Amino acid sequence: MAQRLAVVGVGAVGGFFAARAAAGGTDVRLCVRRPFDELVVRSPDGVYRAELPVLTDPEQAEPVDWVLLATKTQQTPTAMPWLRRLVGPRTVVVVAQNGVRHAERVADAVSADRVVPAVVYVNAEPVAPGVVEHRNYGFMQVPAGVLADRLAVVLPGGGLVRSVDDFAVAAWTKLTANTAANSLTALTGRRLEVLRRDDIGRLAVAMMRETVAVAHAAGAAVPDDLPESTIDRLRDQPGDAGTSMLYDRLAGRPLEHEALIGAVVRIGAQYAVPTPVSAHILPMLAAISDAAISDAAAGP
Ligand SMILES: NC(=O)c1ccc[n+]([C@@H]2O[C@H](COP(=O)([O-])OP(=O)(O)OC[C@H]3O[C@@H](n4cnc5c(N)ncnc54)[C@H](OP(=O)(O)O)[C@@H]3O)[C@@H](O)[C@H]2O)c1
Repeated sequence: MAQRLAVVGVGAVGGFFAARAAAGGTDVRLCVRRPFDELVVRSPDGVYRAELPVLTDPEQAEPVDWVLLATKTQQTPTAMPWLRRLVGPRTVVVVAQNGVRHAERVADAVSADRVVPAVVYVNAEPVAPGVVEHRNYGFMQVPAGVLADRLAVVLPGGGLVRSVDDFAVAAWTKLTANTAANSLTALTGRRLEVLRRDDIGRLAVAMMRETVAVAHAAGAAVPDDLPESTIDRLRDQPGDAGTSMLYDRLAGRPLEHEALIGAVVRIGAQYAVPTPVSAHILPMLAAISDAAISDAAAGP
């Protein structure tokens, strides 16, 4: 019998993996706030279309084998009613979100041994409810083990699930790039080309050095030269490529700063690792994000 997968949050990441899972024969249902008739993912290798059950109220949900949580991190509390309905005694929850310490975010609904933390790499953007523009690559890194092997059956084909022996290194490596790239594109309102400036490049490296110091203190053995290799890689990206935090800022949505640079500052404080540059950047992102929340509350 096909494995039952509920995708909570059908934006860029949720939409991409839901479409691939359905194409591979998994029994997928979509848990959303804004309904649509058809999931459409426009990818470089073709258009994936699927008419899948769309649920808009947690009361409609029943326990499944797998949950893929793909909301933004700051939206996780609002997704808890879904998780409480979808999680049964054997359900495994894949937390496909940026940042570190994924299991803590869903601890109210599921024990850590049934959480698969996932670091996602995909270049995709939601353009309308149920419609995703997928531009390039798409896979998730998860801790190697039995759950990873089982997840590869739920998300079959094309190396969508990649097992890593040291997940902490994978998560902190991505967070290192995210702290700089997301924050500085969102703050400047510019795409990744902004990192090619000498001054912004130096700022990015300073932020990433702080993240690496915190990663080391937290026990993740990321390479010492990760900031330098990461800035080189980011500068090589197409100049018009954006980041999800930039897209959120441009759309006037709240930002994911707390799970990214906020995590660096918080975890740094736990280990007495100084993070002065990150600590100065964080309130600026918080202020932008709070304004978006106030605007949304004020309505049109
Ligand atoms: N986009 C990328 O290319 C990318 C790449 C790698 C990693 N990531 C990470 O992956 C995670 C997901 O990002 P994303 O870009 O996919 O976000 P996204 O496009 O904003 O999608 C999030 C979706 O969750 C929905 N949602 C929020 N709260 C909900 C709730 N209570 N119930 C049901 N649906 C809810 C949102 O619905 P509404 O539209 O109604 O708000 C939205 O459709 C983030 O941690 C992000 O940093 C993203």
